[in-house]
Amino acid sequence: MSLLNQALRAALNARQNLLVELHAQGTDCYRLFHGSQEGAGGLTIDRYGPQLLVQTFHQSLDRDSLLDLHSTVEAVLGLPLLLVYNDRSQGNSRIDRRDPVYQASDAALADLVGHEWGLNYRVRGRHAGQDPLLFLDLRNARGWVKQHSAGKRVLNLFAYTCGVGLSAAAGGAREVCNLDFAEGNLAVGRENGALNPTLAPMEFIQSDYFPAIRQFAGLPIAQRRGHKLPPYPRLAQREFDLVLLDPPAWAKSAFGTVDLLRDYQSLLKPALLSTAENGVLICCNNLAKVAMADWREQVLRCAEKIGRPVRDCQVLAPAGDFPSQDGQPPLKSLILHL
Ligand SMILES: C[S@@+](CC[C@H](N)C(=O)[O-])C[C@H]1O[C@@H](n2cnc3c(N)ncnc32)[C@H](O)[C@@H]1O
Repeated sequence: MSLLNQALRAALNARQNLLVELHAQGTDCYRLFHGSQEGAGGLTIDRYGPQLLVQTFHQSLDRDSLLDLHSTVEAVLGLPLLLVYNDRSQGNSRIDRRDPVYQASDAALADLVGHEWGLNYRVRGRHAGQDPLLFLDLRNARGWVKQHSAGKRVLNLFAYTCGVGLSAAAGGAREVCNLDFAEGNLAVGRENGALNPTLAPMEFIQSDYFPAIRQFAGLPIAQRRGHKLPPYPRLAQREFDLVLLDPPAWAKSAFGTVDLLRDYQSLLKPALLSTAENGVLICCNNLAKVAMADWREQVLRCAEKIGRPVRDCQVLAPAGDFPSQDGQPPLKSLILHL
């Protein structure tokens, strides 16, 4: 047996209890192998419902190794899974769409449905973007939101495919507002809504983060001298009881820069001001090089400084399918009770 196969078997073995738990709670989307933390840097293996998504970020797999991983997972889980291999080891983690190693079947690349916390999610092995349509390390945050959103006005910032919004709707939220500047991502959010027809409809706002959140918070929209701002949707000042802030590591637009390393405050401040008295803000930072202790201190200081001190702060860690040997997972989430 190859070293890679041994590492995979150990990872599957370590997940035995977790998988029983996840299946019982209506979840069939989870990570089965987590790269360097489990012995193979740059290799991830995820189950998305009927699909098995293998991704490589450092070096490609050869065909035999890939097929060997696939059949090991099928044998251990005791079910057939449709294989998709996304080799992202070239430039900028982009998928090599020529597929020199393995061509997925039409069935594997069709529109599929996966489940998490009893909800249906669109699964698509290939689409215009690079990442899968659901980020699995945020599952516990979605579960928390589902449990704590009854009767709440919920704002999902950097909503991507609106998983957090969907969880809030399933938890009985009074209002759910998803905000993202990418129409394609919100379109998948709408599909996710349609895949769960019993839930109350969600709101979708296509806008850059900065003008939208500053309008919600009642703050002016800054214009750099000599630079005319592009058009943006006009929104009324508005507050929410539960806000989720999960930005990308870095993104620049005409309105501002998202920079989780150097400037978390300019993202956090308007989000705090849009959160109602006694409300909750869940904030995330997915940059591995930012330590939880430093970031937590920054977050608490920022809240104090703008007069929205945090009454209670809980750490929300990813589930056991994202093991981290040093106890410092890249995705850090804090639940701030204001
Ligand atoms: C890391 S994903 C967020 C993950 C998401 N919270 C989830 O639940 O899966 C980043 C998202 O931020 C959006 N985005 C990036 N910069 C933005 C900006 N300036 N304004 C609005 N959305 C932005 C992208 O379109 C993308 O959907």
